[in-house]
Amino acid sequence: MNIIEAISGRRSVRRFTSRPISDGDLHTILCAGMSGPSAVNARPWSFIVVRDRDTLSRMADGNGAAAQPLKGAALGIMVLGDMTRAFERAPDYWVIDGSIAAQNMILAAHGLGIGSVWLGTWPQKEKIDAQRRLFELPESAVPHSIIAFGYPDESQKDLPARGGYEEGRVHFEKWTRKD
Ligand SMILES: Cc1cc2nc3c(=O)[nH]c(=O)nc-3n(C[C@H](O)[C@H](O)[C@H](O)COP(=O)(O)O)c2cc1C
Repeated sequence: MNIIEAISGRRSVRRFTSRPISDGDLHTILCAGMSGPSAVNARPWSFIVVRDRDTLSRMADGNGAAAQPLKGAALGIMVLGDMTRAFERAPDYWVIDGSIAAQNMILAAHGLGIGSVWLGTWPQKEKIDAQRRLFELPESAVPHSIIAFGYPDESQKDLPARGGYEEGRVHFEKWTRKD
């Protein structure tokens, strides 16, 4: 799969088979997460990999109704901001760096035939606090997102590409009213 096919063919997958994800593929996915651009190269993130079914279930419940796909996933990866590494002059960049890490992992998984869905945590305080309690996190580790990974269930294979291009969103050379 070339990179354009990977980007334009990816869809969120929310139902998975019971097939496990190998350690080698997990390493490839994590490596992709750590390969994106990062403001001043601070790399202010860390990751919690979870395969334990009971913990996946508790993570899902802590993240609310929209996180239930995690219960059927082969594994989940929580992306966390590491505030001890955040750029002191603009610490909010950690959110952007975390998002890039999440998307890179999603695309790497897609390239390996593994489906995934991004489950948002930050900036919803109740979700952040629930994950903090579950993992007994220090103040400096801020839950950003959870990505559920697994091989797509039959019903989730070949979901139609969304065809992302929208003419009205693009301005050439200067900003022009489009409405
Ligand atoms: C910040 C963020 C938070 C999201 N949170 C959830 C979520 O909690 N549950 C879920 O099922 N999908 C979640 N998604 C996935 C979106 O619903 C999905 O990307 C969107 O509907 C477009 O569908 P597609 O990914 O198949 O193109 C989230 C995506 C992003 C970027």
